[in-house]
Amino acid sequence: MPYFVTPNLTVQGLSNNFARVKSHPVFEKLRIFAPGPTPVPEEVLAVLSRSPLHHRTKEFSQVLGNVREGLKYLFQTEQPVYLLAASGSGAMEATIVNLFSQGDEVLAVNGGKFGERWGKIAARYGLQVHTIEVPWGQAVSTDSIASALKAHPKIKGVLFQASETSTGAFHPVKEVAETVRAHSDALVVVDAITALGVVNLPMDEWKLDAVVSGSQKALMLPPGLAFLALSQKAHAARKESKLPKFYFDLNAEDKAMGTGQTAWTTAVSLISGLEIILQNIQKAGLPALFAFHERLAGATRAGVKAMGLKLFAPDAPSAAVTAVEVPPSIDDGKKIVSYLRDRFAITIAGGQDQYKGKIFRIGHLGFYDELDILTILGALEICLRALGHECTPGAGVGAASTFFLEAKA
Ligand SMILES: Cc1ncc(COP(=O)(O)O)c(C=O)c1O
Repeated sequence: MPYFVTPNLTVQGLSNNFARVKSHPVFEKLRIFAPGPTPVPEEVLAVLSRSPLHHRTKEFSQVLGNVREGLKYLFQTEQPVYLLAASGSGAMEATIVNLFSQGDEVLAVNGGKFGERWGKIAARYGLQVHTIEVPWGQAVSTDSIASALKAHPKIKGVLFQASETSTGAFHPVKEVAETVRAHSDALVVVDAITALGVVNLPMDEWKLDAVVSGSQKALMLPPGLAFLALSQKAHAARKESKLPKFYFDLNAEDKAMGTGQTAWTTAVSLISGLEIILQNIQKAGLPALFAFHERLAGATRAGVKAMGLKLFAPDAPSAAVTAVEVPPSIDDGKKIVSYLRDRFAITIAGGQDQYKGKIFRIGHLGFYDELDILTILGALEICLRALGHECTPGAGVGAASTFFLEAKA
C-alpha cells in the first residue's frame, strides 16, 4: 500500500508548522487515508506500468469483455455497465444528459458536497431542480422524499448519494428507492461513487435506475474511469431525452459495445488493471467484501471514540469513510491534517465548506486492511496528543484491535 519516496522529494511541499521528526530517516512512506484516490495493489501497479494496449485490438476487446462481465457482477445487474474515461463526476453528468430534457423536474437530495453537485449539474442543463436540504452528517428521511414527490408530481428523477463522502453519512438507498416507487414513476438515480464495492447495492433487485461510480475508490485504481449502469426503465427514458450530448452520448457507446469496443480512446491501462481487480473481487465474493468494509469501518469508529472523539455522522455512518468532529481541545482541524502529513506523510481529508477545520475524514474503502486501520489510529493518537488533546495512550488502537478480535471474520 505505501509509496516510497525519498524525503527530499517531498519536503519542499511540507509546511513547517511542526517540529519535523521523520518516520524514517532515508525514505518516506506515503500513505493515503483519504476517501479517494485510494491505494492501488502492487499487482495492479505492475499492470499499469506496462505499455498500453491499442484500444482497437482483439487483445483489448478481450480484456474489455472480461471487465464488462465483472462489472455486471459488481453492480449486481443484468444490464450493461458503461465505462467512461472520466472521473466520477463525468458519470454523473452522463446520467443527466442521457436521461433527461431541459425543463424536466428532478429532486436532488443535498446532504453534502456531492448532493449539491447533483443539483448543480442538473441545473446547468436547464432541469428544474427541487432540493431536499439534509443537515450535514445526517441521512435523508424517506418522509421528506415522499412529501416532495407528493408536492411535485411531475418529478422525473430522484438524485442522491449512497455514501455522502463529504459528511461520512449513508443514505438509506433501498428505502429511498421503495419510497420513490410508492409515490411516483421517477427514476431512482444513485451516486454510488464511494459505495459500490463497499456496501450491498443490488441494482436489479432494488430496482435502482441509474448507478454511477468511479475507479479511484473501492475499485483500487487511479482516477480516470467512471461507470454507469442503467435499468430497463432508464434505457426507455433515454429515448425521450433531448439534452445535447456528444462525448457522453450513450448511443455511441452502445454502438461500440456491439463490436467489443468503446466509443472513444478509452483509459486502456486502467481497464487492464480493472480486469485484475474484478477477477479478485469475484474470487473473494461480494458478501466477503461488504463484511470486510463493515469491519474496517466498525474498528475505525471504535478507535476514534476510544480517543474521546465524536463521530460526525453517528446515526448513519458510511462504511467507506469515517467523519470525525475536531475536539474542542484543538482549535483548528487543519492542524490535524497538516500534522499527519508532515510527521507521517499520511493524507487524510479535512472538512469541506462550513465544516473546514471542524471535521476530518478517514477513508477505509478499497485496498486497506486491518493493520492499516491500526496504523492510522496510532498516528492519529500521536497527532492528537501532540496537539494537546488528552487521551489514554493506546486507547484507539486498543479499541480497534479488540474490535477486530471480537468481530466475526
Ligand atoms: C459521493 C461522491 N460523488 C461524487 C464524487 C466526485 O467524483 P470525482 O471526483 O471522481 O469526479 C465523489 C468524489 O469523491 C464522491 O465521493
